[in-house]
Amino acid sequence: MERISNILNNKVFKEYLKRNEIAEKERVFCKHNLNHSIDVARIAYILNLENKWGYDKELIYAAALMHDITKWRQYEEGVPHHISAAEIADSILASCKFNDNEIEICKNAIMKHRKLEDENDSFASLLYKADKLSRLCFLCEAKDICNWSQEKMNEKLVY
Ligand SMILES: [Fe+2]
Ligand SMILES: [Fe+2]
Repeated sequence: MERISNILNNKVFKEYLKRNEIAEKERVFCKHNLNHSIDVARIAYILNLENKWGYDKELIYAAALMHDITKWRQYEEGVPHHISAAEIADSILASCKFNDNEIEICKNAIMKHRKLEDENDSFASLLYKADKLSRLCFLCEAKDICNWSQEKMNEKLVY
């Protein structure tokens, strides 16, 4: 997991995590912090193992760690975070020794993590599902004012 340690120690990555934390200080809904990204990574890895999809562990963790990293820009500038996160993933992942093909796979999954158009796009669907499954709606005090639809909300713990 050397390349994942590289991401966690990356200067821009750390700065953006901090910016997310500051931007969400008063947020009553789900946060987009490091815990969330690691939850997504671990759930995606469990799904990967259970389904024998065989995706590389570092690839899964890289996509999960990067997918919400620019959420702060959405609050501050109105830039949709799936687009800005895919953009910044390019340079961060390249500097952490991911190759062009791996970067493209991660960027595609990040672009689709909010709205999955094709279930057959398996790596993107892995990130999408893990992201949704990570949320503990059944414990959430802001559930009644959340904009997630009833069918999207998690009613029990799955992973
Ligand atoms: Fe997101
Ligand atoms: Fe997320």
